[in-house]
Amino acid sequence: MRVLVAGASGAIGVRLVPQLIERGHDVVGTSRSEPSAERLRALGAEAAVLDLLDPRAVRRVVLQARPDAIVHQATALADGGFTRKLDRGFAQTNRLRTEGTDALMAAAREADVRRFVGQSFAPYRYARAGGPVKTEEDPLEADPPASARQTFAAMRHLDEAVTGFGGIALRYGGFYGAANDGLVGPVRKRQFPVIGDGGGIFSFVHLDDAAAATVLALDHDGPAIYNIVDDEPAPAREWLPALAAALGAKPPWHVPAWLARLIVGDGLVMMTEARGASNAKAKAELGWTPRYPSWRQGFAAVYRRAGPVRASA
Ligand SMILES: NC(=O)c1ccc[n+]([C@@H]2O[C@H](COP(=O)([O-])OP(=O)(O)OC[C@H]3O[C@@H](n4cnc5c(N)ncnc54)[C@H](OP(=O)(O)O)[C@@H]3O)[C@@H](O)[C@H]2O)c1
Repeated sequence: MRVLVAGASGAIGVRLVPQLIERGHDVVGTSRSEPSAERLRALGAEAAVLDLLDPRAVRRVVLQARPDAIVHQATALADGGFTRKLDRGFAQTNRLRTEGTDALMAAAREADVRRFVGQSFAPYRYARAGGPVKTEEDPLEADPPASARQTFAAMRHLDEAVTGFGGIALRYGGFYGAANDGLVGPVRKRQFPVIGDGGGIFSFVHLDDAAAATVLALDHDGPAIYNIVDDEPAPAREWLPALAAALGAKPPWHVPAWLARLIVGDGLVMMTEARGASNAKAKAELGWTPRYPSWRQGFAAVYRRAGPVRASA
């Protein structure tokens, strides 16, 4: 298959491109800059420089590439999207998930592209009611924190647009697997505390496993949504100390919920009440088996390899 990967130079893209090529696909990868395009060529892909927020450019690149499938992995999180006002930090990513998805889809229809896989997200999104672990059939949170409403709406838009096209939305867990993962700095600096009873559940996935599931999804007919998460959704009070230990950092602080509310605002509920996600459907239907079934082995494998903690880090 000829596969166009939008956002191929990001954290998941650079792992996905080699796995697609290994599987026998021809890959056209997009990035925003020529140096990133060069990196994609070194991975064995054809490369195109593309701003997904320019619909005319999207149309041109898709019509030129003539792919059989499109995989949308573009986000804008490298400069940090995790602020107290989530919608502010995610503003550009939200546009990529709405306008970017729509532009890719319009071009895909014109170019008669049959398959579409889009990057979605599982943690924090399932309704904060009932059991701790949710399937794709369970309802999403109807009342997200005010500071994150646009971000939740953008993810919902992507899910609905992709499945409306007949494609597959992959609700990935929180990515880890690179030395510069977003959580590494804050946890090393003890800036990421366990809040309240640390009961909010989070689902992780190793980047290599996320890429492997994406390759499998391309062989599968849509429409469908899959949680691409590891086998062990876990409360912060368990995974956060384990991550600190794997990094060789001091254990996280514990902060009472009332105090944390002053710091993290209305996003607090995501830290204390979030539900995890089940990967049973992806395992059964995609035949996906994560190489890192739990963050327990994954953190140890990834971060111990990353070397000792520097005092100034
Ligand atoms: N599920 C998750 O937990 C999740 C999901 C996404 C990201 N993250 C994390 O966030 C951090 C940053 O992610 P990242 O390294 O993938 O970087 P990123 O800045 O989110 O970029 C991802 C990809 O999107 C492309 N892109 C950005 N803006 C674009 C635009 N306007 N048009 C077209 N393409 C655009 C980037 O191209 P350039 O390389 O040219 O900028 C790159 O290929 C990483 O730690 C990652 O693990 C986590």
